[in-house]
Order: sequence, then structure tokens, then C-alpha cells
Amino acid sequence: MADKFDLTVIGSGPGGYVCAVRAAQMGMKVAVVEKWPTFGGTCLNIGCIPSKALLYASELYAEAEHKFDTLGIDIDGPRLNLPQMLAHKDQVVESNVSGIDYLFKKNKITSFRGTGSLAAAGKVLVTPEQGDTITIETDNIVLATGSVSANLPGIDVDEERVVTSTGALSLEQVPEHLLVVGAGVIGLELGSVWQRLGSKVTVVEYLDRILPGMDGEVAKQFQRMLTKQGFEFKLGAKVAGVEKGDEGLYVSVEPSKGGDAEQINCDVVLVAIGRTPMTEGLGLDLAGVEVDERGRIKTDSHFQTNVKGVYAIGDVIAGPMLAHKAEDEGVAVAEILAGQAGHVNYNVIPGVVYTNPEVASVGKTEEELKEAGVAYTVGKFPFTANGRAKAMLETQGFIKILADKSTDRVLGAHMVGHGVGEMIHEIAVLMEFGGSAEDLARTCHAHPTMSEAVREAALACGLGAIHI
Ligand code: FAD
Ligand code: NAI
Repeated sequence: MADKFDLTVIGSGPGGYVCAVRAAQMGMKVAVVEKWPTFGGTCLNIGCIPSKALLYASELYAEAEHKFDTLGIDIDGPRLNLPQMLAHKDQVVESNVSGIDYLFKKNKITSFRGTGSLAAAGKVLVTPEQGDTITIETDNIVLATGSVSANLPGIDVDEERVVTSTGALSLEQVPEHLLVVGAGVIGLELGSVWQRLGSKVTVVEYLDRILPGMDGEVAKQFQRMLTKQGFEFKLGAKVAGVEKGDEGLYVSVEPSKGGDAEQINCDVVLVAIGRTPMTEGLGLDLAGVEVDERGRIKTDSHFQTNVKGVYAIGDVIAGPMLAHKAEDEGVAVAEILAGQAGHVNYNVIPGVVYTNPEVASVGKTEEELKEAGVAYTVGKFPFTANGRAKAMLETQGFIKILADKSTDRVLGAHMVGHGVGEMIHEIAVLMEFGGSAEDLARTCHAHPTMSEAVREAALACGLGAIHI
């Protein structure tokens, strides 16, 4: 039997580790149970961090190939050193996950290696790969076990030729032809990595659009940009089967609504059709914790499950599967346990696709406002009219701000363009303070910056932008 804890967190991803650190900072005695050899969850080990390392490196490679000459930098052409690029990614992961070890030590958090599961009330079992099961006594439990890649029925993922995002982060060779199933965030980000490094990339998407849930106009323009980069899209289509042959993979693709299948020959298939909550082995049944129809743990507005003292956060509950959403929920639960008013504002959770150009979004889309019958003004500004963008040869894309027609309060913003993943945050802060488009338009922005386009879009909600 281990010591008694105020809080035991199962899972050390961005939800779990942030919750543990904040709770410890507030004076609680905290334990974390993690089954993987390193802390940091999907995000640090096989998600956000390694994917961004490869996106950055491959973006520079593509720039050296396609942009340097116009800027007056003559080189003989970049040569890809894929083992070094992958080693860079692994070093970045190592540095980030060891950062969590440091945070746990600094905050006197006790960690247990093994699979955590709910036993009786106030008890967590830790089953290590080897050795005896440990019982932890604890006043409160936070389930932060995250999610895993969803599988296509009947398709055998081997993480070498038929891969999820995990395999796609470590391919030892650039595929000649990569077929991506799903035009969501993972498909487009990891598709971009391999397309920049030389793969032909075909994306098969069930719906008739890419990036479902994002602003339709942004998604349409973004699709055009990716097509120009060399992506091929097969929308309204699904993969019916993958046959593994000596000469490659034979993928059977058919219209979503039914019809004749076509065969596509490729060497790697990336399955990126979403993620499912990870609750296997957690002992939910035993403890009587309820899940919804999609297997997500049900919680109330204070993140408590139907079992008193058992909370859940992050990808394993409803809401966008994003690291920063999980982190914010982790902080909120720690605050609630400390008797404070922990809260997450789900209206202001930014979403970013880290391609080039990037896509960024916060708040309501036009589609959502129309459906809710809200009258709104649209302010738009293209990067073609931004001086800094011209200097950087990054004139693709635009900023769109949506403001309430009667109050001018900003309700959402949607962007596609170089570096918009950083620019979205001024809108997030504005929205947290209930600010108007005019507030933003009257805020002095440094010149010359790409962020001036944000101000111009805000001006376009009123009298009009200056530079167009
Ligand atoms: P996770 O990070 O999934 O962590 C869960 C942890 O719990 C894991 O360490 C797991 O081993 C552990 N665990 C599970 N069950 C048990 C158990 N029974 N006992 C002990 N331990 C257990 N989001 C973004 O916001 N930005 C991005 O750029 C981004 N990029 C991504 C790229 C990829 C390729 C992928 C796959 C995801 C990406 N995401 C991104 C999503 C992001 O990774 C997740 O939303 C986030 O990691 C969820 O955090 P979490 O704490 O809920 O769970
Ligand atoms: P997703 O939900 O973003 O996209 C999945 C896509 O696959 C959708 O367009 C869907 O219509 C399509 N699809 C589903 N079934 C299909 C089928 N049978 N055939 C063809 N298409 C099909 O999921 P994705 O890309 O796997 O990402 C999982 C999660 O990870 C997302 O929730 C995302 O938020 C998170 N993530 C976030 C990132 C970021 O914030 N930059 C980066 C990567 C992942």
C-alpha cells in the first residue's frame, strides 16, 4: 500500500500532467499513474510535438527548394537527410518528456508506472508490466487517459506500410505515393510533411469537403492551396479495402454514396479518420462510471463523473480533442478540488492546422451563426494587400472576422495564411474580454507585420479596411 494522496491522476498527457502540477501548486499531495515509459501522453510522445518538429523541418526543406531562388539565395538544391530529420524529432520529444519529469520532481508529485484502474471508492490499482499490483489510497481521482487512433474495419494497421499517425511520424523512407484516409487535421499535417519531402499524396475523404467543422470558405481556399502544392483530393469517397502486395498496396476506393470502386496503387496508407477515447482496462464498469454513446466518459459541468470523487478531462471526455483544451480542463479540475470556481470557456478554444499556409479558427463559424439565426457582419482582409506578406512571399490567404451585427462584439475569426496560428490569439484574448471589432480596429498594430491584416479585417467590419 502506498501513501494516501489528496489526488491521483491516471494519465500524464497535457490534461493529466497540467492538472497534477496545478493541484500540487495549490498544496495537494498528488500522485500520477502512467503506463508508458515516458510522461507527456500522446501530445509530447506521438502527437503535437513530434509532428510540429517534422512540419518545421519539412517546411524549411520545401522553402529551400521552391523559395530561396526568388529571394536571391542560390543553392544547389537541398539534399534530404531523413535519418537526421527523424533524429531531430526524437530529440525534441526527449527534451519535452524529460521536462515533465522535472516538473513532477519540482512539484513533489509521486509517479507510478503501470496501468491505472479504478478499484473501490478512493482506491486506484496500479498494475506494472512486471511486479506486484500496488493500491493507492486517494481522496479524488482524475481520469486523463486520452485517446487512440480510430481504425477502419477490416484494415490491418502494421505501422510500417499501413500506418496511423504514430507510424507516419517515423517512416524510414519517403513514400513514393502516400494515400491518406481522412482530410482532417492529421491527414493534412502529416500529408504535408511527406508531400514536401517528395511523396505524391492522395487524400481520400468521406465527406464532400476537407476539415469538417472549420469555416467552409477557409476550407475551400485551403484545399485549392494544397492542390497547388501537389495534393490530390478524392472527396465523397471511402476506402473499402487495402490489399498488401509485393509491389505495394492496392487500395480500393469507392464513392461514399455507393458506386464503382477504383484501385489505387501506393506504397503507404495513413489512416487518419479520427480518434477514440481510451478507457480500456480502466475499470469503469467495476466502478460504475458512465460513458456516452461514443465511449466518452460522461461528466457534469465540474468534470465529475456520476461517481463522487472521480473526475475526467481531456480527450477521454466530450469536446475538441486538443491539447490546450485538455490542459485548461486540468487546471479547472485542480481549482475545483481546491474549492475555487474552475471553469473552461468552450466558446474560445482556438484550433490551428500547422501546415503552410496555416489555418486558424476561434469562436463561431459563419455556418454556425447562420444556423443559430444570429445577424453578423463579416470583415475580411487578404494577405495580398499586406506589405510584410509581400516581402516574405507569403501572400496566400486571408483573415475573416465575424462580429455581432447589433453590438459589434466579435463572435469568431477564421484565417488561412502564413503564421496565422500565432495571430489567432489576439482574437481569443479579445473574445475573452467580450471585445468588439472596433476595439480591435482601434488597437495600434506594429508595422510591418502580418498581424496588421487582423486589424484591417476588424476595420472591414466597420467603415472599411484602409489598404484595400
Ligand atoms: P493523452 O495525451 O492521450 O494522454 C493520455 C495518457 O494516459 C497517455 O500517456 C497514456 O499512456 C495514459 N494512459 C491511458 N490509459 C492509462 C491507464 N489505464 N493507466 C495509466 N496510464 C494510462 N492537439 C493540439 O492541440 N495541437 C496539435 O498540434 C496536435 N497535434 C497532434 C498530432 C497528432 C499526430 C496527434 C495524434 C494528436 C495531436 N493533437 C494535437 C491532439 C492532442 O495530442 C490530444 O488532444 C492531447 O494529447 C490529449 O491530451 P490528454 O491528456 O487528454 O491525453
Ligand atoms: P479529424 O476528425 O480531424 O478528421 C478525420 C477525417 O476523416 C474527417 O474529415 C472525416 O470526415 C474523415 N473520415 C472519417 N471516416 C472516414 C472514412 N471511412 N473514409 C474517409 N474519410 C473518413 O481526425 P484526425 O485528423 O484523425 O485527428 C484526430 C484528432 O487529433 C482531431 O480531433 C484533432 O483535433 C487532433 N489533432 C489536432 C491537431 C492540431 O490541433 N493541429 C493536429 C493533429 C491532430
